[in-house]
Amino acid sequence: MIIEVITIFPDFFDSPLRAGVLRRAVDAGIIEFRTVNLRDYTSDRHRTTDDRPFGGGEGMVMIPEPIFKAVDDLRRASPPPEVIMLTPRGERLDNRIARELANKKRLVFLCGRYEGIDERVASGCIDRELSIGDYVLSGGETAALVAMEVITRFIPGVLGCGTSAENDSFTTGLIEHPQYTRPREFRGMKVPDVLLNGNHRDIATWRRQQSLRLTYERRPDLLEKAELDRDDMEFLKRLGYRPEAAG
Ligand code: ADE
Repeated sequence: MIIEVITIFPDFFDSPLRAGVLRRAVDAGIIEFRTVNLRDYTSDRHRTTDDRPFGGGEGMVMIPEPIFKAVDDLRRASPPPEVIMLTPRGERLDNRIARELANKKRLVFLCGRYEGIDERVASGCIDRELSIGDYVLSGGETAALVAMEVITRFIPGVLGCGTSAENDSFTTGLIEHPQYTRPREFRGMKVPDVLLNGNHRDIATWRRQQSLRLTYERRPDLLEKAELDRDDMEFLKRLGYRPEAAG
């Protein structure tokens, strides 16, 4: 997959791409990453990318021309990319969207800055608007990084050792069960016995029940969509879960 990011802060991405899953994916040739400096598409001496809003008001708005030029340029590639703008008003990024985008050959992320982007960019230049949550960042760069990481985790071959984003919390529809490692006792806190006795069926049951318990306590909304069997339902009912009362 080729990921291109249009930004006025290309350096922003240097360090995150040198660590963790993104680095491994780049090193393995699974993703290719490029930044595109929006200022390279400006046409004035000052390399201007923003201007004052028509109608007045605080702050600056990103002008359409350099963005359209940059996107036009990147759309000439084959296959053409899906062009995504990061903005708090976009569709909320989740695992479903990440999995869908992990199948694309090319993605372009457009990072906005300042107080906004001329509306003609949204209506005439991009394919999709994505948000990473109900809060406002000072720019789309951090959001683009989040999106890149979560999408990359769904590309086959990125997570090694037979692990997969498909087993993570939320992908299974439930919060993941707790994990423990050595030592068996730490500051008086013991690892649950069931994990030490080597009985794989008991361990699987315990993990499933812990996953259900955590989801019930913290994100009961997820239970409505999760795939639950009879044992799951019985366990949840013992905790007090009433499906008809939920939501
Ligand atoms: N840009 C500013 N805030 C954002 C958010 N919450 N998600 C995506 N892009 C943004």
